[in-house]
Amino acid sequence: MSRIDIIDIVGSFVKLKKRGANYLGLCPFHNEKSPSFTVSPTKEIYKCFGCGKSGNSIGFLMELEKYSYVEALKWLANKYNVEIEETEVSPEVKLTQQAADSLYIINNFAQKFFADALFNSDEGQDVAMSYLKERGFREDIIKKFQIGYNPSSRDTFTTAALTSKYNLEFLQKSGLVTVRDERPMDNYRGRIIFPIHNQSGKVLGFGARVIKTNDRAPKYINTPENEIYVKSKILYGSYFARMAIDKADECLLVEGYTDVVSLHQAGVENVVASGGTSLTPDQLRLVKKYTSNLTIIYDGDGAGVKAALRGMDLALEEGLNVKLVLIPDKEDPDSYVNKIGAEAFKEFVAQNKKDFILFQLEVSLKDAGSDSAKKSQIVNQVAETISKITKTEEFTRRQDYIKQVSEILKIEEIGMNNLVNKFIRDKVTKDEQRSFRNEPAKVIPEGEEEMPAEDVAADLFNRDEMNERAMIRSLLEFGYRKWNDEQSVADFLFMQITENELDKMMENKELLNVYEIYRTWYNEGLNPTAKSFLYHEDKNINTLVINIMDTNTEISPKWKEHFEGKIPTRDDLFREEVISTLNYLKLRKIKKLIEENQRELEHAVSGEQQMLYLQTHQHLKQMEIELTRQIGTVIIR
Ligand code: UTP
Ligand code: MN
Repeated sequence: MSRIDIIDIVGSFVKLKKRGANYLGLCPFHNEKSPSFTVSPTKEIYKCFGCGKSGNSIGFLMELEKYSYVEALKWLANKYNVEIEETEVSPEVKLTQQAADSLYIINNFAQKFFADALFNSDEGQDVAMSYLKERGFREDIIKKFQIGYNPSSRDTFTTAALTSKYNLEFLQKSGLVTVRDERPMDNYRGRIIFPIHNQSGKVLGFGARVIKTNDRAPKYINTPENEIYVKSKILYGSYFARMAIDKADECLLVEGYTDVVSLHQAGVENVVASGGTSLTPDQLRLVKKYTSNLTIIYDGDGAGVKAALRGMDLALEEGLNVKLVLIPDKEDPDSYVNKIGAEAFKEFVAQNKKDFILFQLEVSLKDAGSDSAKKSQIVNQVAETISKITKTEEFTRRQDYIKQVSEILKIEEIGMNNLVNKFIRDKVTKDEQRSFRNEPAKVIPEGEEEMPAEDVAADLFNRDEMNERAMIRSLLEFGYRKWNDEQSVADFLFMQITENELDKMMENKELLNVYEIYRTWYNEGLNPTAKSFLYHEDKNINTLVINIMDTNTEISPKWKEHFEGKIPTRDDLFREEVISTLNYLKLRKIKKLIEENQRELEHAVSGEQQMLYLQTHQHLKQMEIELTRQIGTVIIR
């Protein structure tokens, strides 16, 4: 960790310029014209003020290169010539990993078996290949997508797999084998097999299509959910499409396996399939890795793509630009491209791309007819949809929508604008209420404006979390300062907060965790600081610490000019900050003790007992008043 230079790491992907203490560049995570992506070499973190992404070097590699934590470490180790010693993982993790590995191995074997059966057996050629050829699939494309065939007899595949010593339990888990009447047999008998690949080309599972349409059998049988096949995270074809998506800066979404394969064959390679269910956030994020432009191609009948449309608010919130193309005449993309040819198809898509929001508006307007109640409902709906476009860099896009929508609805633009703003305000208020408690405390210079103590106290109880965070921040930032001649700030805090009180003082378990880790490190004689946490393996912990440390508490330069030398800095105020945070947490603990005591009082059986509880109550109240008074002198905002 000590060798990592974040400027060096980020700098190998992003062109950085020095700006004061920090470095600035164009954010690699979203499209921008003026740089808002900042890297701080001292804090060892990056943060984009445009899209809000932030983290450390490891997080950067994970985000940008889509590495796992371990992959990012390996990349860094390689860069800095450090050898990694791998240690044992927990038994459960190991089991899952083993299961996943086994499934990959089985799938790999199966894929080869099915391809061989398609190309090199009589049945494969006569039944399956002739069907595929009849549908117009070329051999090179069949090979590219590793399409295969599972013979129709009871257990050709199962026997081959068991003979090769594959484990029956995993064969069942993979969905390839099923046990009927206590005898294992092939699950995909007589079906064309479409392997489904992950981003790096490994086979996650299969889609198995019947050849002769038969009312009783389902058209496709898909791999059941298991350690590696997680439907909500899969987009069929993403392995073959990723380069093309990147290049075209657009991802086409279709419904079926055959649509993807046919479009590829026609030279349209930036295409993936959803598999006929509504798009999930994970799938949208997968798209977002490569492009912000999603074009959904659907046929009038396609229930699946209609379902996909339902999740569209999510797509807008993810910052995806969604367009729609409707394939006419009961065709699907596969049959349509075969009918009109590759060039005409590309032309058709380019010409008929409809904006999602406008399209939705047109459809519902048609539905509403002359019903004015329905119409005003539509106005509200569309305003709410537009209000989901909230990212600052998308301001122009939002204004364009307001303009176009007002024209379609024949209403005044200004009215629409106000309505959209209202939805945004409502949402912001809601979000604020939620995030309010997550802001750390700021110490305001004394004497400016004093709230009456009761108000401070009352107000404070909304800020539990804020103060818990401030407490952790004090520890991370000032822990090594001298509190007095004998003690550091950390010593002082540890003495003030004894172990058994801690759970009463800190409610947020993650913050408590940071506190405990700090204390362990500190007691071991390590020198923990915020930086020590930046590389903590638990991403929750390192993001939490980044967020705690990354609040702007510096004083604006203008103020500095004005009050040269008079304004106390955070540094000058660290004692006040430590004391006020501590007092606050103590106050809360006392508050809880008072409540507890009150409950006891209600259940007291004798006058003597009551007396005792009342005395305790008085005593606690006294402490509460004293603390409240002390807190009132240092205003926490
Ligand atoms: P389609 O019925 O449109 O299939 O279903 P298709 O891929 O276009 O196949 P052809 O052209 O008729 O041969 C679209 C997608 O929905 C899922 C599959 O992912 C399919 O590709 N699906 C459909 C199933 O999972 N199971 C089914 O029974 C049907
Ligand atoms: Mn089809």
